[in-house]
Amino acid sequence: MRIRAAVLEEFGAPLAVQDVELAGPGPGEVLVRLLACGVCHTDLYTASGADPSGYAPCVLGHEGCGVVEAIGEGVSSVAEGDRVVTLFSPQCGECVHCRSPKTNLCMAIREQQNKGYLPDGTTRLSRGDERIRHFMGTSTFAEATVMPEIALAKISPDAAPEMACLFACGLSTGLGAAMYTAKVEAGSTCVVFGAGLVGLGAVAGARLQGAERIVCVDLSEDRLELARGQGATDVMVGGEGAVERILEMTGGFGADYTFEATGNVKVMRQAVESARMGWGLCTVAGVAGKGETLDIVPRYLITGRRVAGSSFGGVKGREQVPQLVDRWLAGEIDVGPLVSRTVGLDDVNDAFALMEAQDGIRSVITLS
Ligand SMILES: NC(=O)c1ccc[n+]([C@@H]2O[C@H](COP(=O)([O-])OP(=O)(O)OC[C@H]3O[C@@H](n4cnc5c(N)ncnc54)[C@H](O)[C@@H]3O)[C@@H](O)[C@H]2O)c1
Ligand SMILES: [Zn+2]
Ligand SMILES: [Zn+2]
Repeated sequence: MRIRAAVLEEFGAPLAVQDVELAGPGPGEVLVRLLACGVCHTDLYTASGADPSGYAPCVLGHEGCGVVEAIGEGVSSVAEGDRVVTLFSPQCGECVHCRSPKTNLCMAIREQQNKGYLPDGTTRLSRGDERIRHFMGTSTFAEATVMPEIALAKISPDAAPEMACLFACGLSTGLGAAMYTAKVEAGSTCVVFGAGLVGLGAVAGARLQGAERIVCVDLSEDRLELARGQGATDVMVGGEGAVERILEMTGGFGADYTFEATGNVKVMRQAVESARMGWGLCTVAGVAGKGETLDIVPRYLITGRRVAGSSFGGVKGREQVPQLVDRWLAGEIDVGPLVSRTVGLDDVNDAFALMEAQDGIRSVITLS
């Protein structure tokens, strides 16, 4: 079939929205008609050429929500008409990581996905004789996509697509960092650095876990206001001296749990140093620039602080994304304020520009 899609032709150049060919689903694959897709930093990072593992041409996009249009041979867990969220982090349920409760890093299709191919090493996207690669196994800046069954989470049909798509990446990453990676305990004190979608999700996740005090740190007053809406009890403008101020607020000890959601290695260090001696756990969700390293004075670790990293919030996507969506639909998570605007596919480059200007939390592309 012919579909409209936003193609990364050349690093550093605007995406080109155009018609491309999408072949039908092979065995174990699913054709998804996309309804909405969030525009995330990772798309921009790859489009800019900063990501050393990027490739072109490819169709970008990974924060997708859509409806199943057709299934390939052997597909049994989703059916035509199901509403789904796309997962760049799949869950096969069988690999050594899927069988462990300790991680969500499914190994099943990683190697091919990283190269831009579906699990059988080919693509369903093409243009004439030229094949176009799949981005993050998802390629959701498009009217439709073909994805492995194990990379689709079936969600409630009541979930509005332009909000549900945020659960495909940033929002679940933040929620999960607090709920599944850190496993925040009720009554605890948390500090979240960064109030973008990931940080705001971590604030909401800490609240859902019953944290008593949640301090959010950001440079933008507007974003700190949004953090209050997600459950922050205190907010603070960050920068130099943030650690000292957090220690003052916490009787000189620091917080039980800290979260880093900025991608800045200096802020990661602040998050480590703001964690409490004895048991403070710092969870790093931000993605640092290529080659950057995190400085930690070892004494912080010897005196009982721990550091954890979190990819996709530790969320086991097929199982837990539907649960998170249900909590939103039950009124426990306020997703509306996180969608700053909706745009058409043709405006994808404008959405990139807004993101670079830190204008709004998420722009969402509406499709179909
Ligand atoms: N681990 C994962 O699986 C995963 C998934 C999605 C995104 N990410 C990463 O998480 C990070 C956050 O993503 P986002 O979409 O929320 O980004 P964002 O840019 O919208 O938010 C980052 C926030 O950090 C704030 N900030 C910058 N410097 C600061 C400082 N010194 N102190 C306090 N706050 C500061 C900014 O004002 C901004 O509000 C990025 O690095 C992104 O690449 C990771
Ligand atoms: Zn993302
Ligand atoms: Zn697996």
